Amino acid sequence: MDIPVLTLDGPSGAGKGTVSRLIAQQLGWHYLDSGAIYRALALELTEKDFLHTSVAEIVEVALAMDLVFECGDDRLVKLNGQDVTDLLGLESTGNNASKIAAIPEIRAALLQKQHDFKQAPGLVADGRDMGTVVFPDAKYKVFLTASASKRAERRYKQLKQKGIDANLLEITADIQERDQRDSERQFAPLIPAADAVYIDSSILSIQAVVEEVLSLVR
Ligand code: C5P
Repeated sequence: MDIPVLTLDGPSGAGKGTVSRLIAQQLGWHYLDSGAIYRALALELTEKDFLHTSVAEIVEVALAMDLVFECGDDRLVKLNGQDVTDLLGLESTGNNASKIAAIPEIRAALLQKQHDFKQAPGLVADGRDMGTVVFPDAKYKVFLTASASKRAERRYKQLKQKGIDANLLEITADIQERDQRDSERQFAPLIPAADAVYIDSSILSIQAVVEEVLSLVR
């Protein structure tokens, strides 16, 4: 059976996570948060000085990771049996994830974990290279972006809501640094797939973006 895949790629803070989750819920499809996989690996490595850990060792850790996403009313992510949901959301985890995500061997090692999410009746896949590398044959592809200031503002509000101390200037700088690293890396950089529909969410509500994406599928 041909399982439909909808890919949503874009820079950090564009609203991909929220939009993807709502769409997956409405369609009754599975949801892949590929960023969480890179973040989980970054967490696994925080014990080590990963910039000085060999790539082969990191690949071994990547392959051994036991990562479970539990989708109830609230999202729960377990890494080797431990609830790491809050730790995954930290800015520092995202930054470390972006550093290891630039290494091609590590990306290759995480490919199978991502492919495993493609299950009936369908998959919404959220990330940076979903439509270009991981699911190049996806039936529906979206590139979701927003202005850098809007993305920083959203991220700031998100962190505050979670009770995490945040500074708008620092977040803006972090987002810019991460986007630059993600866009300029040699392997699987953040670029729209040639056949992706481009949506700028700067002045659109979440609901408007959800409707626009759903109209592609329906
Ligand atoms: O989307 P999220 O902010 O959780 O991703 C964290 C980091 O993981 C990104 O900045 C990016 O470097 C990396 N990532 C990636 N490819 C993906 C998803 C995330 O390189 N498909």
